[in-house]
Amino acid sequence: MPLIIGCSHGAHLAPKVARLLKQPYSGMRTRIFPDGELYAKFQATVKGKDIILVQSFYGSINDCLMEVIFAAHTARELGAKKITLLAPYFPYLRQDKRFHAGETVSIEAVARLMDEALDEIIIMDPHLHRKDSLSEIFSIKAKKLTANDAIAGFIRKRVHNPAIVGPDWESYKWAQKIGEQIGCEYHILHKKRWSSHQVRIYLKKGVDLRRKSVVIVDDIISSGQTMLETIRQLKASGITDITVICVHGIFAENALERIKKAGAKVYSCNTIPNPAEKIDVSAILAEALSGWK
Ligand code: R5P
Repeated sequence: MPLIIGCSHGAHLAPKVARLLKQPYSGMRTRIFPDGELYAKFQATVKGKDIILVQSFYGSINDCLMEVIFAAHTARELGAKKITLLAPYFPYLRQDKRFHAGETVSIEAVARLMDEALDEIIIMDPHLHRKDSLSEIFSIKAKKLTANDAIAGFIRKRVHNPAIVGPDWESYKWAQKIGEQIGCEYHILHKKRWSSHQVRIYLKKGVDLRRKSVVIVDDIISSGQTMLETIRQLKASGITDITVICVHGIFAENALERIKKAGAKVYSCNTIPNPAEKIDVSAILAEALSGWK
């Protein structure tokens, strides 16, 4: 079994994963120099070992990426056998298309960096929108995990008489799957997005959810515009009991407060630390490593 290493933005989950697997854990020491450069240091010997770098990518995302690249290159140089990245949240996956001439397709560049640095990558609920699988993005071995079991369990325990709503078609991977798991009704809505802040959600005609506890489920809450617009439309149709659940709570631009203010209960998984994290995914991450080869 491998040595589990908590990088700076993975240390909220990595020790739990190591404990669940009864495997050794070590942290990565990092700091930022006055000029903005990154310093990183292993605190355990990596020679001859399979290592799992646990890193989530939030806040200073690009520093998080550099830390993984530095760690992987150094581990290789110091004689690590196999280097894997376990990413509870992996960034840039939504930048998978050139929407306007001259734009960078950022995930392409990021994926090449990962291919070069790592042997394997494991990502929880990657945002695969225009791609069907991680192997269309990475050349190294790539595996995806989902928090759906944990979210379905949470809804079963906490929400009476639920109906699941996905705000846009790609949310079916969470909303529909979770609805099916729970055995309750689910509806996938239609979304039009013009820019980060301009979003319109269209409800389905002829669906009455006024007697239901409506749970909106999505993979990511970033600016919160998708959720805010969905809540606005649901409320306009007379729905009062609204809960919002996401896997990755980025909650940029005060999104958490704005969604609560709009009248919804908000919960997220703990792939990214945040005040709404109530759904623990550490057991799912540990399970993914349990048959380590
Ligand atoms: C995109 O399709 C994702 O599934 C989310 O709906 C989106 O990333 C949420 O972004 P925001 O919170 O900025 O509306």
